[in-house]
Amino acid sequence: MTSSGDGRAYGSRPGTWDPELVEVGAGTPAGELLRRYWHPVARSSDATTRPREIRALGEDLVLFRDASGAPGLLEPRCCHRGTSLYFGKVEQTGIRCPYHGWLFATDGTCLDQPCEPDRGRNRDSYRQPWYPVVEYHGLVFAYMGPPDRQPVFPTYDVFDDLGDDEEVVIIDHFAFGGPTEAPCNWFQTHENAMDAYHVFILHNAISGPQFDPRLDIWPRVDWQRHDWGVTCTQDRELDDGTTLHRVTEIRVPTVRVIPTPTLSVLGRTNNLSWALPIDDTHTRVYAMVRKPEDRPPQGLPVYGEGKSWFDLSEEEHQRFPGDYETQVGQGPITLHSTERLASSDRGVSMVRRQFVDQVRIVADGGDPVGVSYDPADANVSVMAGNFIVGPDTDLAAIPLPESLS
Ligand code: FES
Ligand SMILES: [Fe+2]
Repeated sequence: MTSSGDGRAYGSRPGTWDPELVEVGAGTPAGELLRRYWHPVARSSDATTRPREIRALGEDLVLFRDASGAPGLLEPRCCHRGTSLYFGKVEQTGIRCPYHGWLFATDGTCLDQPCEPDRGRNRDSYRQPWYPVVEYHGLVFAYMGPPDRQPVFPTYDVFDDLGDDEEVVIIDHFAFGGPTEAPCNWFQTHENAMDAYHVFILHNAISGPQFDPRLDIWPRVDWQRHDWGVTCTQDRELDDGTTLHRVTEIRVPTVRVIPTPTLSVLGRTNNLSWALPIDDTHTRVYAMVRKPEDRPPQGLPVYGEGKSWFDLSEEEHQRFPGDYETQVGQGPITLHSTERLASSDRGVSMVRRQFVDQVRIVADGGDPVGVSYDPADANVSVMAGNFIVGPDTDLAAIPLPESLS
């Protein structure tokens, strides 16, 4: 925003962000919404007998796996006198603080106090702060919210009933191509999933074909709001008279389903990802991909003359920008007050509005969408995919999976 009439930069006022979208800390309205869901905080392979520092939703934690195989996620600061369990020793039933040897189980209960009479007559009254975790297809998920509101752990139908020759793998390149961690707020990468037009411009017109050439065709785009999230449909008429019907999906709060843009998989998506807000200015994306064991996960974007993101020079990052450059380029936290949203941003606006609605529901004491306390509701049906449909197909009539309609 400028103060001078001819649009020059002199006198520009600093912008601000919308805290209801971006702040993830405990006690903030958006942070309290996020804490009502399970979040992937690490790969299962990160949970070992060597403690590892984890940061999620602005909280520092220590992840380990005890010798019985159970993963644990504890506050690092020992409840005795505060040294870090990062230096702890993992044993059969928990982690032992290196300073005075208190032993904590994965649920924080204190199992041993070797310097106290009878190894801790009152040890039952001590508890190291902890969070519950669940492992699912190679990721460790944590629930960091109020105990009485802990939802059932959701599973996703696209990963059900794996065949003998199939596997699920985790890819944690930011935006399927960059480093694992991006120095920007999570919401600016999350809302990108509803930014249909950037595929045509950024990934194809600006940077050369980073994806399938069929995505070069200008799409007909529409967005739909559901109880649980927002979908975007993009239809491209192909030369042979068929239509590429591409559906992307966002589920409150952090799930994005972006079918492979290389179109190596047609039909319903074979992948789903979560944006993990590490803190207000750092984000990690975990993608879960289902695939035949003997094939690579999916094509990653190519930049310039067939290079990967990591091989680019600084100048090539400028000439062939991708999701990392544009999303990190919005700044550590994008400044919503300076934006000029246009008609092509309708999907982004829908995602933001729905998220803020849920933030306010939680602030008012309610339960947000997408949480269930009934194990019968644990399996979630996903609708995103790349579909080739015939010339006579009524796109509006393609039914949603039952649970989504
Ligand atoms: S500081 Fe951990 S046992 Fe004393
Ligand atoms: Fe993109």
